[in-house]
Amino acid sequence: MKEKGWIAVLDFGSQYSHLVVRRVRECGAYAELVRHDADPGQLQGVRGLILTGGPAHVYEASAPHPHPNILRVKLPILGICYGHQIIAKLLNGRVERGSRREYGRALLYNKGGFLLSGLPPKFHVWMSHWDQVVQPPEGFTVTASTEACPVAVMENGEMKIYTTQFHPEVAHTEFGEEIIRRFVQDVCGLHHTWSIQDYIEEAVSEIRRAVGGGKVLCAVSGGVDSTTTAVLVHRAVGANLTCIFVNTGLLREGEDAEVVDVLRKQFGINVLYVDASSRFLAKLKGVRDPEAKRKIIGEEFVRVFEEEAERHGGFEFLAQGTLYPDVIESAAAGGPASLIKSHHNVAGLPGDMRFKIVEPLKYLYKDEVRALATSLGIPASVVRRHPFPGPGLAVRIIGEVTEEKLAICRRASKIVEEELEKAGLYERVWQAFAVVGDDMATGVKGDARELGHIVIIRIVESSDAMTATWARVDHELLDRMARRITSEVDGVSWVAYAITDKPPSTIEPQ
Ligand code: XMP
Repeated sequence: MKEKGWIAVLDFGSQYSHLVVRRVRECGAYAELVRHDADPGQLQGVRGLILTGGPAHVYEASAPHPHPNILRVKLPILGICYGHQIIAKLLNGRVERGSRREYGRALLYNKGGFLLSGLPPKFHVWMSHWDQVVQPPEGFTVTASTEACPVAVMENGEMKIYTTQFHPEVAHTEFGEEIIRRFVQDVCGLHHTWSIQDYIEEAVSEIRRAVGGGKVLCAVSGGVDSTTTAVLVHRAVGANLTCIFVNTGLLREGEDAEVVDVLRKQFGINVLYVDASSRFLAKLKGVRDPEAKRKIIGEEFVRVFEEEAERHGGFEFLAQGTLYPDVIESAAAGGPASLIKSHHNVAGLPGDMRFKIVEPLKYLYKDEVRALATSLGIPASVVRRHPFPGPGLAVRIIGEVTEEKLAICRRASKIVEEELEKAGLYERVWQAFAVVGDDMATGVKGDARELGHIVIIRIVESSDAMTATWARVDHELLDRMARRITSEVDGVSWVAYAITDKPPSTIEPQ
């Protein structure tokens, strides 16, 4: 992926670091996140460096600095926010704490220059800073400013260094994509050197090389990550791949049949279907605490998985759908090297089993996995499906998991999804589902008053599940959902809508 050149994104700990990588890839060049102090002389094939923002202050003694080679290697540099300030400091410009914090949208006055050439004389950008460059280094031209920030963009064409106080990677910055593309293509010379198709070819040969003639096991959950992993590995090793699908009894309506069908019939993949639902429900009997439920489900999953692996025997490799954000813990300024996060999806890792791990998606983001899945021919119904937690409906059922609550949760969630789909909104939201607990409310059916469950509809918008906002969907749509849920789902008398963001709430109720 790096042979045709790539961009190293030096991570100074910004919450937007991953976003920078994604934006570069969207411009058709490969990018990876590296430590803020990585030696650019050691990065094979690198054609440009982007220095991200970060929470530190450049004038403090503990401020994280890039590797001293950064200026010696003469690679093009784009500095963003902290990256802008640290470049100013390294080259003897002056950075000071601003008189006030500039946060949010600001109107940028574009005075020309290479980075912003062709863009309008005034446009809006996203700012988030206290400190600012008050005097640019010698040889630099100030090419844009805002009211609160006189040096909003500076550049030195000869050194190929371009820096911005604002965040071009954030969607609120107008023309942000053009600014990043200008750097990637016109400064670094990477014109469409990377695509998802390249990724498929490389991943397939890499899997073949790693696995040889060995047998590979893959747990599939119905989600896009594990399905894509299975199809990609199957392309590489064919019949040497066996998938295991465990029906925990906690899945969405129709989910088990759909994924097994797609893998078996469309791709000819060997899938072991294990119906373990009664085992899971028995273990969950009487358990109300959410973390206890998670633990039981996780442990039971591993047990079922181990039994099946043993029964069918001879597996040397385990394929997992780990994604790039799972692998790279943002190398926070001054912090440790990239850490491997423990993968908490229960449809993933059997803790103490001794497999060699194959993770063909580990350099990809979710939207890239979706693009990959589509080009592998995985049906849209799987590709578009909302994320679903490993412990399944158990975290959407408040209190004990019972057959009655499971049936309510499953059917009501299906209605929520169907109505969103009809309204053309399914793909516009991050997750949408129904929650049910033990609280009862009175309803009227005919002349009789009767108690029924309260179903809570949760629909959220998010880009990464770290934060989320409740979706401001049309009241008429909520009305259709509520009417259908109370008339089509037995035992429900009230429907409510969850209107808290994350934070302070979480997306799942448990
Ligand atoms: P919360 O509820 O923490 O969820 O805002 C953030 C995202 O993670 C999913 N989620 C889980 N996924 N195991 C999983 O594999 C879990 O235990 C779990 N809990 C929450 C949730 O669906 C959302 O997308």
